[in-house]
Amino acid sequence: MSVKVVVGSQWGDEAKAKIVDYLAVDADYVVRFQGGANAGHTVIVNGNEFIFHLIPAGIMYPNKICIIGNGVVLDPSALLNEIEELKNRGIDVDGRLFISQKTHLVMPYHKLLDQAGEKHKGKNSIGTTGRGIGPAYRDKAARVGIRIVDLLNRDVFVSKLEQNILESNEILTKIYGYEPLEVNKVVDAYLEFDRKIDPYVKDISIMLNDAVREGKNILFEGAQGALLDIDHGTYPFVTSSNTIAGAACIGTGIGPTHIDEVIGVMKAYTTRVGNGPFPTEFDDEMAKIIRDMGGEYGATTGRPRRCGWFDGVIGNYSALINGLSSLAITKLDVLDTLPEIKLCTGYRYKNKVLHTFPVDSEVLENVETIYESHPGWQEKTTHIRKYKDLPVNARSYLERISELVKTPMKYVSVGSDREQTISV
Ligand code: IMO
Ligand code: MG
Repeated sequence: MSVKVVVGSQWGDEAKAKIVDYLAVDADYVVRFQGGANAGHTVIVNGNEFIFHLIPAGIMYPNKICIIGNGVVLDPSALLNEIEELKNRGIDVDGRLFISQKTHLVMPYHKLLDQAGEKHKGKNSIGTTGRGIGPAYRDKAARVGIRIVDLLNRDVFVSKLEQNILESNEILTKIYGYEPLEVNKVVDAYLEFDRKIDPYVKDISIMLNDAVREGKNILFEGAQGALLDIDHGTYPFVTSSNTIAGAACIGTGIGPTHIDEVIGVMKAYTTRVGNGPFPTEFDDEMAKIIRDMGGEYGATTGRPRRCGWFDGVIGNYSALINGLSSLAITKLDVLDTLPEIKLCTGYRYKNKVLHTFPVDSEVLENVETIYESHPGWQEKTTHIRKYKDLPVNARSYLERISELVKTPMKYVSVGSDREQTISV
């Protein structure tokens, strides 16, 4: 039996889903525990690309049970689209996709409030995905959120929803100058969704705890990354959920004593989408080179991703707050042609050298980076399947990352296909 958690250890988009897909071969359950349709998880099998936003990537295997935990905020329209798209491509989720009764719903007003709020903030915006994530988690914390279980009691559900729409309409119309939402239309749409979602709803906390007791293999699939964590990330330029490994417990209801392994996924360089500090960010010219080679465009929004060198300070911090047992280093092949590769080992701020992550985003915004230079390997790695066959310079670069992050490396990815994975 094993319970493993896969988490993003930078600013998201670390190719977590590719590692989840690789590890899911041995899993009985694959579980999403936080975030929502802001995630864009890409899996490529035999050249066929699938992008998941809510459904765990393990659904690609016909016999895996996939779970959406209570920590997720669920947009029904995004979920139904995803189910439909999978069906059209020959993947049936019925009987093996389960959603917690405790999961909060993302409502149309959440999406509008997210988008309007961002527009209103102008140059101070966070650069969210516009998927209603912040407002949905805000309602959850304010105890006015609507959960899947609420759909069971129609009268209570309708009255809660009406109340929320009326309040949201006040903000949408009076502050943002938007059109109000029509209460009846939203209620009807959610009652329709209720009928469709019924077969998937379960007490997944009980289900997972039973699975643990029966010695099943459980794989948790994190969304976003450690530096986007609402508590530990580059606040306020973060998402609205806890993204670190501990969230797997909170977002499903299994105890921390059950987790055997935490695998941190890190790119061999760094990317971030949206605003906020990014010490190792490239200049425009270099960013364009890596963005083109790495296909660094958002899977959810299509936005070009910001790109930079690998940051050892952030890697090390991420290893600490996640309690990483091992690393999966991805997209090594993107660096194949570079003559020189830089690694950030520390920051300089007001004549002081920092090796630990500064909590204040303002400080992080103004640090100077300290780099060490590594010679590139300048040969293709995409066909390599054994660690010892990697060029010596690639191995020494990877080993230096593992040393800086103080965590053993277990997997290296040299391409987006399932096959292009090296077990170290
Ligand atoms: P995956 O799971 C990268 C970023 C957004 C924005 C901030 C807040 O594919 O790695 P939100 O919509 O969550 O309120 O936006 O978080 N963000 C992500 N960046 N990968 C993701 O998910 C992200 N999900 C949110 O760009 O900066
Ligand atoms: Mg993504």
